[in-house]
Amino acid sequence: MRKLENVDVMIGEEELQRRIKELGEQITRDYAGKTLLIICILKGGVMFTVDLSKSLDLDVEYEFMDISSYGAGTESSGIVKIEMDLKRPIFEKDVMLVEDIIDTGRTLSYVVKHLRSQKPKSLAVCTLLDKPDRRVVDDVKPEYIGFTIPDKFVVGYGLDFDQKMRNLSYIGIMNA
Ligand code: IMP
Ligand code: MG
Repeated sequence: MRKLENVDVMIGEEELQRRIKELGEQITRDYAGKTLLIICILKGGVMFTVDLSKSLDLDVEYEFMDISSYGAGTESSGIVKIEMDLKRPIFEKDVMLVEDIIDTGRTLSYVVKHLRSQKPKSLAVCTLLDKPDRRVVDDVKPEYIGFTIPDKFVVGYGLDFDQKMRNLSYIGIMNA
């Protein structure tokens, strides 16, 4: 496990994996007998998607989307753009959007509208982290939430600071 001096552990690897397994078991029960199409949001959702899928006792298919929200400095402008869209139709499929974190809620709101217009049979949202104190757009409520966290900038396990630190096996807070 990679230890960094400027990062404090917020959610350790064991706690993270325990909760992900729990979510996987819950999703397995909720989708029993169905095929689940997971849409992973790049790049932050990759680690979570991989570990979550390993605890799903279901037939799983994958699609990937890459979304960006442009802005000056650390605050996003709220202008969401699809950099890479789905490769196959989701019409009549049971779809689950897998996200790393919901912050202002702008990305989620935009992507969910985009997906609903393609008429999936069902659409659920599973996010590893939720920062409700930061919410600006609140029209989508995730069905599955790993951890609710305070208004702190977090890194690791998919989440980046300036594109780095995604490979930490835990969720950390920058202390410097
Ligand atoms: P939203 O549109 O404001 O909800 O933000 C969505 C995206 O911002 C997430 O998918 C992350 O990529 C990024 N983000 C939000 N909060 C954090 C954080 O604390 N650390 C790293 N990335 C974050
Ligand atoms: Mg993201």
